[in-house]
Parts: sequence; structure tokens; C-alpha cells
Amino acid sequence: MRMLDVAAGNIRVAIPSDASAIAEVYVETWRAAYAGILPDRTLVRMSVASQIRQWRSLLNAGDAVLVVTDGAEIVGFGGYGPNRERNLPYSGEVYTLYVSPDYQNQGLGRRLLRAMFKALQRDGHESAIIWVLAENPSRFFYECEGGAKIADRNEFLWGVSVRELGYGWSFLSLGAA
Ligand SMILES: CC(C)(COP(=O)(O)OP(=O)(O)OC[C@H]1O[C@@H](n2cnc3c(N)ncnc32)[C@H](O)[C@@H]1OP(=O)(O)O)[C@@H](O)C(=O)NCCC(=O)NCCS
Repeated sequence: MRMLDVAAGNIRVAIPSDASAIAEVYVETWRAAYAGILPDRTLVRMSVASQIRQWRSLLNAGDAVLVVTDGAEIVGFGGYGPNRERNLPYSGEVYTLYVSPDYQNQGLGRRLLRAMFKALQRDGHESAIIWVLAENPSRFFYECEGGAKIADRNEFLWGVSVRELGYGWSFLSLGAA
């Protein structure tokens, strides 16, 4: 594990040239987090090259992403915006949150989540939802951060059917101290 002075871990808005570093963190963290949860073939098939293309196009399109850095290195990131599932009474959504395995459990995920909640509030969202795989232990992180389990759904993702849980924050102003 690489220890980082959490206060020094810097959070900033991502720019299109961050696409490759974000893709590297995404693939590395995704494979570590979902081993044993998603089929091996799904984990192996994921490629950094295709993720770079996807993140570059999202960032060029103006999608909101925050990154946390250790010096010049991106070690975590999160994406957010309007809730994509209109039938749930939550205005904002955190789409992604990934902290590189070497930097987990040092408070960076919490700082990124709170920074995204503040950014959502600035964009006019008072509530937010996050979807997480039911089998992913990171759901306990969302419970620690005050999220309430408010929904579940089955999604066909990455070639398999998976159960997801929705965690909701009704008042970001209370949860984003
Ligand atoms: C989930 C994730 C973003 C959390 O980030 P992190 O930097 O490791 O978490 P933090 O150090 O900020 O933890 C904040 C609190 O949550 C708790 N927590 C973190 N992960 C936890 C887990 N898996 N189970 C239980 N509690 C957890 C911590 O103990 C801490 O509480 P404490 O201060 O009372 O000790 C990160 O572990 C990660 O990227 N995981 C893999 C990818 C993933 O699953 N992302 C979510 C996809 S929706």
C-alpha cells in the first residue's frame, strides 16, 4: 500500500488529457474489485485502449469528472451528473467512484464522494443516488457515508445479468459536510 497524506491528496476537475490515466485506474481497480463477482472472461476482455477512447469522448463531451492526485499521478476519480433513472426521486447521481487499490482505505474515496456531492449541490441537485453491484463490498462504504438502501434492479452488464443496489442521499447538504 502506498501511504498518502490525505490532506495532501489533491482533488481537481478532470480534463480530456487525463483520459489515459483515468482509464488505467479504472481497469486496474475494476479488475481488483470485481474478481470473483464478474466472470473472468469479462475481466480479461476489458481493455485499457477501449477505456481510453471512452473516457476521452466523455471528457470531450463535457462530462463532469473529479480526480484525486498524488503529485502528478491520478490515483482515483469519480463521475457525476443528473440522475439517469427518472422514476426515482433523486435529482443527482454519482456514476463512478474508483480509488486505485494501492491508495484505498486512506480516506480518499470519502473525500472524492463529498467533493462530488458539493459539486452536485452547486449544479442544483439536493439529492443523489449511486448504484453498486449487490455483491460488491464497497456498498458498506456507502452505508458508512450515510447512504440509505432505497432500490434494487437487475441489469444486463458486461455480458452478464447482475443485481444492483441503489443507495440514496435525500439531503446532500446534510451528508456532504
Ligand atoms: C469503494 C471505494 C471508492 C472507497 O474508497 P476508499 O478510499 O477505499 O475509502 P475510504 O478510505 O475513504 O473509507 C471511508 C470509510 O468507508 C469505510 N469503508 C471503505 N471501504 C469499505 C468496505 N469495503 N467495507 C466496509 N467499509 C468500508 C472505511 O472503513 C471508512 O470508514 P472509517 O473512516 O469509519 O474507517 C474504493 O475502495 C474503491 O474504489 N473500491 C473499488 C471500486 C468500487 O467498488 N467502486 C464503487 C463502484 S460503485
